[in-house]
Amino acid sequence: MSTLTDPVKVMKQEVGKAAAARVQSGTIVGLGTGSTTAYAIEHLGVRLKSGDLKDIQGIPTSFQAEVLAKQYGIPLTTLDAVDRIDIAIDGADEVDPQKNLIKGGGAAHTREKVVDSLADQFIVVVDAGKLVDLLGSTFLLPVEVIPMAMTPVMRAIEKLGGKPELRMGVKKAGPAITDQGNMVIDVKFDSIDNPAELEKTLNNLPGVLENGLFVGVADLVLVGEVKDGNPVVREM
Ligand code: A5P
Repeated sequence: MSTLTDPVKVMKQEVGKAAAARVQSGTIVGLGTGSTTAYAIEHLGVRLKSGDLKDIQGIPTSFQAEVLAKQYGIPLTTLDAVDRIDIAIDGADEVDPQKNLIKGGGAAHTREKVVDSLADQFIVVVDAGKLVDLLGSTFLLPVEVIPMAMTPVMRAIEKLGGKPELRMGVKKAGPAITDQGNMVIDVKFDSIDNPAELEKTLNNLPGVLENGLFVGVADLVLVGEVKDGNPVVREM
């Protein structure tokens, strides 16, 4: 029986640390968003402080990542100042057996897709509960939309067979607002049989900025799980 008080937290910590341990000195690092990546950012800071890691620069995927990077002493840069990203570490809300993802639970998927797609190596960090056979089974698909296009985009999504709902803020009246000042529609599709096609179809709707399907972007998925009461990290 597990002796871990909060197994999900421990799995996130361990997988975050394992990804941060793969970062090498002198590299440009994409810093993802979410509670799992937060542990990776923290561990990068620990390695920098101890001298085990030197001379990295981070590119944050969100305001949250930027704040954490500053807190843990990770120097930051921008896409204007570099010509490559060596490695990116980011979480996911669902991962299918082909390493396709749903992201955007934190409404950061637009910037995440820019940074994660540019990286030479994109490492996904998840706990075992995120693994699914078919995308969309447990999580609604986030779609970032510019505010004036909300109604026509919702109608168009219904015509595609999706059930859209506007994401509401937490401890904030009204809708959740992204780092770009837009809104997010969370969509329930009965089944996402062809993620690559749906990703393109949604992004073609006028007013849609980006959706949370990440198809063919992940290079490596690290999975945190608990075995015999102990946290372990495995490659998917
Ligand atoms: C942010 O918009 C998301 O894509 C996150 O990366 C994703 O929701 C995973 O977050 P957790 O690690 O907190 O589950």
